[in-house]
Amino acid sequence: MSTLLETPLVCFLTGDGISTELNAFAARALRIAIPGALLEEAPAGFATFGAFGTALPAESLAAARRADACFLVAVGSPMVPTSGYRSPIVTLRCELDLFANIRPVQSLPQSGGKVDLVLVRENTEGMYAGRETTQPGRCVAERVITERASRRIARFAGQIAQKRSGRVTIVHKANVLRETCGLFRTTAFDELEKVGGLQVDELLVDNAALQLVANPERFDVLVTTNLFGDILSDVAAHAGGGLGLVTSANLGSPGQGGSLFEPVHGSAPDLVGTHRANPIATLRAMAMLVRHLGFEEEAQALEAAINHTIVHGPCTPDLGGEGTTASVSEAILARLYAHLSNSLSTDPS
Ligand code: NAI
Ligand code: MG
Repeated sequence: MSTLLETPLVCFLTGDGISTELNAFAARALRIAIPGALLEEAPAGFATFGAFGTALPAESLAAARRADACFLVAVGSPMVPTSGYRSPIVTLRCELDLFANIRPVQSLPQSGGKVDLVLVRENTEGMYAGRETTQPGRCVAERVITERASRRIARFAGQIAQKRSGRVTIVHKANVLRETCGLFRTTAFDELEKVGGLQVDELLVDNAALQLVANPERFDVLVTTNLFGDILSDVAAHAGGGLGLVTSANLGSPGQGGSLFEPVHGSAPDLVGTHRANPIATLRAMAMLVRHLGFEEEAQALEAAINHTIVHGPCTPDLGGEGTTASVSEAILARLYAHLSNSLSTDPS
């Protein structure tokens, strides 16, 4: 990024479930990394729906629009038809046109593994178009795939691959969904050819799921449609140490400004109040946000503090440790603060 905003405005969407336990640590990481950052809290999620009758009040959407970046841990969405409810994340992705969901996965630092992949998920259409109809005994979901969305997500993936080892795998199910996945497949091949200089291959989504478990080292960049990307990112998370560690950026066209950073995991209702939620996915999302705002050294310092803590502890039970959400977060924040106050003379007060 060429211009550095000394006082970027970050919109914190409140979320549900373990968000309540993680938000404060994410905010503190931001304040240490970018002391001039301005934080604006905005209600969003299922609790917000209960209170306001909408999961994303107009004021929250406006706050997200005016922010330089948005942050959200997770929302909890109902599993039964709920009149008036729409996931605020899906709404934000569409309203801010955050069409690219970037989900990096790397082996745990101490594992000696060689997994280093980026899953690029189309974020605005597919099965998430939200067009479902119900008749007695029969329900229909519309899967929308457009050439425009397929082209721009393939280009985005190709540009990421150009900065890496240049390999892209197109993931689809065109052997069954010959029209929708067929359009995605041919458009992605065409666009990646135009990007140029890439090694492009393809996998059917079921085989891609197997390969992500059996042979994740083989991947560099994967590009796929919305629902496949959602499912495959949880599968890929396994190679990165689990859902407590993997994170994502929702981005739009360069220069359009909008962005939303979030861990891959959900609101984890099973962990609420147990102090077992791993804060690392959330803090890694914050590191991506800090980098996106142009603070590369601070982002690296946060990532280094996270990796040091993964190796030396404390760790939450999902990584085999006995640490808590708070003890892991405090260890990372202390290390980040010590590093930045030494190297940059920052003052988080
Ligand atoms: P989930 O991602 O919340 O949990 C799946 C599994 O991963 C659970 O066993 C949970 O304990 C574990 N896990 C999640 N976060 C963790 C963390 N930080 N540390 C350690 N373990 C962690 O997905 P689930 O259970 O399928 O859905 C729960 C709720 O979350 C649902 O209401 C769903 O709609 C919502 N959801 C929201 C998402 C979002 O806001 N982007 C994404 C996925 C689900
Ligand atoms: Mg998911």
